[in-house]
Amino acid sequence: MDGERGQEKQGRVLRVSPGGALVGRVVPPGDKSISHRAVIFGALAEGRTEVENLLEGEDVLRTLAAFRAMHVEIQQRGPGRFSIDGVGLEGLTEPEDLLDLGNSGTAMRLLTGLLATQPFLSVLTGDASLRRRPMGRVVEPLRRMGARILGRESGRLAPLVIHGGDELLPIDYACPVVSAQVKSAVLLAGINTPGVTSVTESAPTRDHTERMLAAFGGEVERNGLTVSVGCWPRLRAQSLRIPGDFSAAAFPLVAALIVPGSELRIDNVGINPTRTGLLDMLTAMGARITRHDERLMGGEPVADLVVRHAPLRGIVVPREWVPLAIDELPIFSVAAALAEGETLLEGAGELRVKESDRIAAMVDGLTRLGAQVEERPDGMRIVGRPQGMTGGVTVDSWTDHRVAMSLLIAGLACKGSVAVTRCDNIATSFPGFVPMMQGLGLNLSEGFA
Ligand code: S3P
Repeated sequence: MDGERGQEKQGRVLRVSPGGALVGRVVPPGDKSISHRAVIFGALAEGRTEVENLLEGEDVLRTLAAFRAMHVEIQQRGPGRFSIDGVGLEGLTEPEDLLDLGNSGTAMRLLTGLLATQPFLSVLTGDASLRRRPMGRVVEPLRRMGARILGRESGRLAPLVIHGGDELLPIDYACPVVSAQVKSAVLLAGINTPGVTSVTESAPTRDHTERMLAAFGGEVERNGLTVSVGCWPRLRAQSLRIPGDFSAAAFPLVAALIVPGSELRIDNVGINPTRTGLLDMLTAMGARITRHDERLMGGEPVADLVVRHAPLRGIVVPREWVPLAIDELPIFSVAAALAEGETLLEGAGELRVKESDRIAAMVDGLTRLGAQVEERPDGMRIVGRPQGMTGGVTVDSWTDHRVAMSLLIAGLACKGSVAVTRCDNIATSFPGFVPMMQGLGLNLSEGFA
């Protein structure tokens, strides 16, 4: 590729070379999903909420900026420490400009639900990846509640224009997509809508919204796969410590599993059962991952995890595990590419509408590294190579943070070094990824392809 233009297209390039075992102890950053919700409920509560270990990734910073734009006072008190002066359910005021949510699907979808009931106009936009992502899934139930939301043609609705202010009608919504973001958007509209709003899922998804709403004093009832919220709760400010992000921990975890001689302790990891499908998948493949000092942190279960290198064998992934590991499927595909035998992942079509088409992106990247992977409409079939992949190539992350980190970990099991292009978005969820992995002795550097 030639000169500056080439480098601009490649964005941040990271290079990884095979090296020694990963031994030591790491602490993952605060959980991204829980951090977004801490900002949202902190802003809607009455009084000052103090948050520790908030993820200072780009996505959460966008949510913080959105609430500041709606005139909520938020102060940074130290690394990961923020105080939020909540304005109550009716205290947000109209932003003067667009709310630019960057790369964050969670911010866009949860705020759409929340702002549908606020008495002002808001316009939500984001980067090219976010503007391509499906928003009809949140707009449809909200319009059924009476919300006025305008967008472009269906499928690519964002930017979204929300004319809040009309009183909505409660809904009993059978959610056709398995999505915590859709569930959360409807519930956030529900707390400002008369009556009881319910969402019924076809499979369980992460329940951080429900847990945090209850912790702030909201009325939340769960009955099987149905969750209901009452209207106009009096939310009270809280002091919260955000658990470490299981989805970030998944990268050093799989790295330790695939590099011989590794033994890693990962401290302070959220192990909410709606998030830990990857642990079940890796255990079924032969991994030994132990949990220590299990405890509760702000209503969320947390533990320290210990993982050692282990030979893995392929599995057929039970479909019901897919939503519980949805963000970990890219890094899971790396583990599968190094396992003995065949792995079949199906029922994971949602991966096609994440920050990138993660099925296509991982099949492309792993194939270039020398793995044997076959793309399926809703998943992939992988024939593992326990002896490692060839590498010695440049692969593209498709601008997707989780694809970038997964391919870098895959590089550890390659014979030749691997460069990954367009890694800038790693900062959306795991700004400390490179120093953390370097601290474990990984041969990871900023470089040119
Ligand atoms: C999230 C829900 C999931 C997940 C995303 C975070 C959340 O998205 O992939 O990274 O915080 O609610 P979907 O709801 O689209 O499955």
